[in-house]
Amino acid sequence: MGIAIVTGASSGMGVSYVRALAQEAGVEEIWALARREEALLALQAQLAKPLRSIRLDLSEPDAPSRFQALLERERPKIDYLVNNAGFGKFCGLGELTMEQALSMVDVNCRALTGLCLAALPYLSAGARIVNMASAASFQPLPYMELYAASKAFVRSFTRGLNRELRPLGATATAVCPYWVRTPFFQVAHAHEGAARITKYEVLYDPDRVVAQALRDAKRGRDMSVYGLWNKTQHLLVKLLPQSLVMELWLRRQGLPRA
Ligand SMILES: NC(=O)c1ccc[n+]([C@@H]2O[C@H](COP(=O)([O-])OP(=O)(O)OC[C@H]3O[C@@H](n4cnc5c(N)ncnc54)[C@H](OP(=O)(O)O)[C@@H]3O)[C@@H](O)[C@H]2O)c1
Repeated sequence: MGIAIVTGASSGMGVSYVRALAQEAGVEEIWALARREEALLALQAQLAKPLRSIRLDLSEPDAPSRFQALLERERPKIDYLVNNAGFGKFCGLGELTMEQALSMVDVNCRALTGLCLAALPYLSAGARIVNMASAASFQPLPYMELYAASKAFVRSFTRGLNRELRPLGATATAVCPYWVRTPFFQVAHAHEGAARITKYEVLYDPDRVVAQALRDAKRGRDMSVYGLWNKTQHLLVKLLPQSLVMELWLRRQGLPRA
């Protein structure tokens, strides 16, 4: 019996991960991390399994070392580490404050890296690391280029890590969802600039994306790409020049082009 750790457990797909992992026979306790502790406590009340709520702002510079110190104190056996916390902003780079921009890198990339590193000594044989990337990682996306680049980091980092962990019996999976129906969009549109990205062809169900992610993680896959539209787009952007993909994206969203 081991524990499952889920970041960003207060909302959206984080809640789906916690609920799904609570059904796993081998998981004895879930550690749920987020800033909004009241949301974690509300989730705790709905679960049959013990949930430990941990308030942690992953944009803070010392967040990874605080997590590491917690592991050193508790020395748990980790069966799942789900680095799900993350956010994007849908606007031009110049419409972001310095804090918003760098915090995106801190949460999406820096903290995720630090949590993986801190967890390594405590991974059980057969442990699964699940890192949330995005379909945005497949190509550069103007007006959300920083978010797309942060997720490209997660995808590349995770696929490489998977090959490194496999001989040890553990795996890492980069989850690359298309648009998913969660509060992500409220956060993405909360900025000073105009609403730039407004057209979403498909909005997938968070529980389904997460169920597929956990199936793919158990199979040891280095990527999880849920949905026919998503898979088709993934294939197309591998075949087309990235300049053309960006042009099509700008046209589709009605964004300025040179
Ligand atoms: N929804 C989509 O269309 C979509 C598509 C592809 C990939 N993704 C990725 O999927 C993951 C989950 O997103 P979601 O759609 O479920 O969005 P969400 O509902 O907005 O959830 C984001 C979670 O991240 C946590 N978080 C954000 N900033 C944090 C910080 N500084 N410190 C600690 N936790 C923080 C939030 O918790 P608190 O606010 O309580 O801290 C929240 O629980 C993200 O990595 C996102 O980039 C989403």
